[in-house]
Amino acid sequence: MVFPTLRMRRLRRTSKLRQLVRETVLTPSDLVYPLFVEEGLEKARPIESMPGQFQLPLNRVAEEAEEVASLGIPALILFGIPKTKDDWGSSAYSPQGIVQQAIGEIKRAMGDRLVVVTDVCLCQYTSHGHCGILQGQEMVNDATLEVLEKVALSHARAGADVVAPSAMVDGQVQAIRKALDREGFENVAIMAYSAKQASSFYGPFREAAYSAPAFGDRRSYQMDYANSDEALREVELDVKEGADIVMVKPALPCLDLIHRVKTAFRMPTAAYSVSGEYSMIKAAAARGWVHEKAAVLEVLTAIKRAGADIILTYHAKEAAGWLKE
Ligand code: PBG
Repeated sequence: MVFPTLRMRRLRRTSKLRQLVRETVLTPSDLVYPLFVEEGLEKARPIESMPGQFQLPLNRVAEEAEEVASLGIPALILFGIPKTKDDWGSSAYSPQGIVQQAIGEIKRAMGDRLVVVTDVCLCQYTSHGHCGILQGQEMVNDATLEVLEKVALSHARAGADVVAPSAMVDGQVQAIRKALDREGFENVAIMAYSAKQASSFYGPFREAAYSAPAFGDRRSYQMDYANSDEALREVELDVKEGADIVMVKPALPCLDLIHRVKTAFRMPTAAYSVSGEYSMIKAAAARGWVHEKAAVLEVLTAIKRAGADIILTYHAKEAAGWLKE
């Protein structure tokens, strides 16, 4: 059947017809909201490069978690900003660390009404800003694994539901799964930052979390964004190592990867719409160059259409509000 018998516009005539045939429906349940918690902070501090986002003091996280849950968002992911840094990132696994305390605050207030995910990495906690342990200028793989295990365990002990290793060192999912199981945390899930690329879109995050590398870049551990077969191999390894959820990051430059990963593995698939993606829309919207609500909903729907089941996004609260309207 072709034109004029077939007319594609018939089903686009009214909003109800369009609603009826819509293939991808974004809901607040698809979203995870990232939260920055800073040790020793007195009151919330706006993040300049991420309009609408804040570094939060510990005494504000429970309130924020309550707001996130009330919008129908099922989960948040915590990023800590510690007071002290050293070469080994030891403040990342202190039982009194900022993330460990924040998990406690949220879990005490919310119980199982909100999923608490934690980022397991060292870059905010090391004096050199790299995601692992250095020998000279080089990040060493296996020594980093031992520290990441300690970080994940400390998060699990504090009550995290899901840990999300993001250092991009080989074997991190296996190491963390074994450590968790050994200590009786077999129910703590792993969301693996599997295909995490060396992207320029993390810039605002590094400003927000004071985690830019002091020298060099992250290309010896994060993936080359030109590679998609390699992204599939990374995901395959993480699945074999025990990941419960796999992730592609960033999101908008990687819609093809999200699609390939979802199609190939049928795993719960997350996409991280990162800080730079957020700030680009915010900046253009502030100048009146794009309509913020329309642009955000279009981008998030496209990420879901590509195959993401879960979208980590700084737009989560605003998007959930718009979706409820
Ligand atoms: C930690 C980490 C980063 C992001 C998430 N986890 C920074 C980085 O890899 O440099 C970036 C998130 C964002 O840009 O929103 N390694």
